Amino acid sequence: MTNYISIADAMKKGSGKVAVHGWVYRERGSNKMKFLVLRDSTDIIQCVLSHEKFEIQWKDIDSLKIESSVELEGIIKKDARAPTGFEINVDKINIIHIAEDYPINKDLNEELLGDRRHLWLRSRKMTASMKIRSTVLFGLHECAHKLGFTEIHAPSMSGAASEGGSEVFEVGYFGKKAYMTQSWQFYAENFINAVEKAYAIAPSFRAEKSKTPWHVTEFWHFELEGAWMNLQDDMDVAEKCIVYVIEKVLKENKRELEILEADIDMLKKVKAPLKRITYAEAIKTLQKKNHKIKQGDDFGSAEERGLAKYYGDNFIFVTNYPMSLLKFYHGEDLKIPGTGMNFNLLAPGVGEMVDGSQREPDLNKLVERLKKAKIDLGASNWYLDSRRYGSVPHAGFGLGVERFAAWICGFDTIKDSIPFPRTPTRFMP
Ligand code: 4AD
Ligand code: MG
Repeated sequence: MTNYISIADAMKKGSGKVAVHGWVYRERGSNKMKFLVLRDSTDIIQCVLSHEKFEIQWKDIDSLKIESSVELEGIIKKDARAPTGFEINVDKINIIHIAEDYPINKDLNEELLGDRRHLWLRSRKMTASMKIRSTVLFGLHECAHKLGFTEIHAPSMSGAASEGGSEVFEVGYFGKKAYMTQSWQFYAENFINAVEKAYAIAPSFRAEKSKTPWHVTEFWHFELEGAWMNLQDDMDVAEKCIVYVIEKVLKENKRELEILEADIDMLKKVKAPLKRITYAEAIKTLQKKNHKIKQGDDFGSAEERGLAKYYGDNFIFVTNYPMSLLKFYHGEDLKIPGTGMNFNLLAPGVGEMVDGSQREPDLNKLVERLKKAKIDLGASNWYLDSRRYGSVPHAGFGLGVERFAAWICGFDTIKDSIPFPRTPTRFMP
């Protein structure tokens, strides 16, 4: 059996005989020569076939169209004119499949590309993006494990909504109503009393109609929760994970970053300690920069992105939001009454990427807040057992995997960081 190597490895080898296989990325030719640019998951390379050498196979070679699949052998050498600086002079070709006319071209609009998403994933951009996404996911797992966290999963369907609000998908469950999970947190706040440090990476579902570039209705959520952790510990862990993953991508995805023309300097700038400011300070800064905002207001995306920009065009933690803007589970910071022991980590160009807090440990306070917010916990009453039996100080956060991956790649939408984005209007293919 021929020993096929990847196109990247063939180029690393740089000379001598190589065998590669892949898909035709581009093709052109005359009746004397055929130039194929071949693509595999690692890179592209120009391959030259002469009529003279392939007289018997020429008819098939001549009919090779984009995305046809082939195996070939030949001599590789440097060639400055070739798209990636190398060329294979082909001695042997085995045509596996001659493709039909490929329905993707550069003139397709977003809607048509969406219909053909399964094919669009073959593009160099999407392939590079998916590889970086994979490193991000693996890096988050690695970092959480290194810090002593146990991966533990919660169900995706439940009889009660978690984050609440109207942004929840209902599904039929044997004649009853179930809800798609919005967050793993409520389960986690219970099982930290067992494993102490817990995390999961799983899909979360949000039935929100927002059409921003940073929202999808199904996203991958890295959530982490730790018993005995306070707000500072929580931010330290988030910071470690962010920095760890960026360093890993810089090390392991050099070629993908190059293909995407990602901003390497921006990535290298992200180092611990990341700047931490309070919400009150953030508002003052925004006012100085002429944003129409006052203490107590929520940030819009312009404010969130602005803050990351004004503070050195880098990640920034904003803590201590007014309690009125927070969910019932966030703890109150008694050192700055009326504000939460919470944070958002904002990223330049994106805005909110991580959302976390030290949780309210007291049962009575929680119940009071639920009443005030007119939330009937009903089927979620079990959640409160975490505060009934050995309640401990604890904190956690949620990070949107696609927002993080898209930021690393320098994309202007998270839709390029998930293989099949789900939006209010798109759930096929
Ligand atoms: O801010 P969120 O809604 O917080 C929670 O769900 C908490 N229960 C997390 C926790 O403390 N365990 O979501 C957390 C993060 C956001 O900061 C954002 O990065 C991402 O999840 N996110 C989305 N990403 C893509 N599309 C959406 N519709 C998203 N909604 C949230
Ligand atoms: Mg949030």
